[in-house]
Amino acid sequence: MSAPDLAGLTALVTGGASGIGLATARLLAARGARVACLDLEPDGLPDPLTGIRADVADDAGVREAVAEAARVLGGIDILVNNAGIGAQGTIEDNADDEWHRVFDVNVLGMVRVTRAALPHLRRSDSAAIVNTCSIAATAGLPDRVLYSATKGAVLALTRATAADLVHCGIRVNCVNPGTADTPWIGRLLDRAADPAAERAALNARQPMGRLVSADEVATAIAYLASPLSGSTTGIDLPVDGGMQGLRIRPRT
Ligand SMILES: NC(=O)c1ccc[n+]([C@@H]2O[C@H](COP(=O)([O-])OP(=O)(O)OC[C@H]3O[C@@H](n4cnc5c(N)ncnc54)[C@H](O)[C@@H]3O)[C@@H](O)[C@H]2O)c1
Repeated sequence: MSAPDLAGLTALVTGGASGIGLATARLLAARGARVACLDLEPDGLPDPLTGIRADVADDAGVREAVAEAARVLGGIDILVNNAGIGAQGTIEDNADDEWHRVFDVNVLGMVRVTRAALPHLRRSDSAAIVNTCSIAATAGLPDRVLYSATKGAVLALTRATAADLVHCGIRVNCVNPGTADTPWIGRLLDRAADPAAERAALNARQPMGRLVSADEVATAIAYLASPLSGSTTGIDLPVDGGMQGLRIRPRT
């Protein structure tokens, strides 16, 4: 049997203690990588994952955490920028400080972690960055202006960073999940007046009629992180049940 594709590689996953990040960390480890998860709440991670506590909104904390990850893992070949937070509302609804806070986590968080990880990535022969973007970057979703704006920035940041790093041999890509069944969506449904009706509406918005699973997003991230996708850079890969690409007729 051949060795797993990530054998001997190291990976840092932000937001790696829950949802898509945790599923990704587990999958990368199952495929042979040594994996550290940077998170606000990294306690209780399953073996063999290493938890590192940090807030991606704190530059000094990020630098310390990335140095710690590189020390524990013995370098960083793969960076998955996945930590993110949501925001609801139309363009009239969010105060300036909320705009600053969500951009600080969702966009500048990726900038800080990438900046700190780059010296390590530059030393790798299999360097890859994968950012968790969203269908919200490519489709207009109601009541999500601020969140969508941050993910639009993530898409542009992904492409521009890919252009800057292509000659260093560092690939940069992103995944665009549709609505994914993670604790994040669980919290959203818990706040809804009628959670069952809200879940049914979210399912119906996806052409496949169901939410995306965290494992499906993790599989796409692992593909982009792997040396097996060595000719792929600057792309956004939808994992959205057909939400972006299809225009289907309503079923009667
Ligand atoms: N769930 C969805 O429907 C969906 C769809 C598209 C994109 N996404 C994106 O996927 C990513 C992960 O979402 P999820 O659904 O797995 O959410 P989640 O809430 O289950 O997990 C997010 C993790 O990020 C961590 N985190 C949040 N802020 C942080 C910070 N400042 N510093 C460090 N860690 C922080 C949290 O502690 C948590 O462990 C996010 O970037 C989100 O925008 C989610």
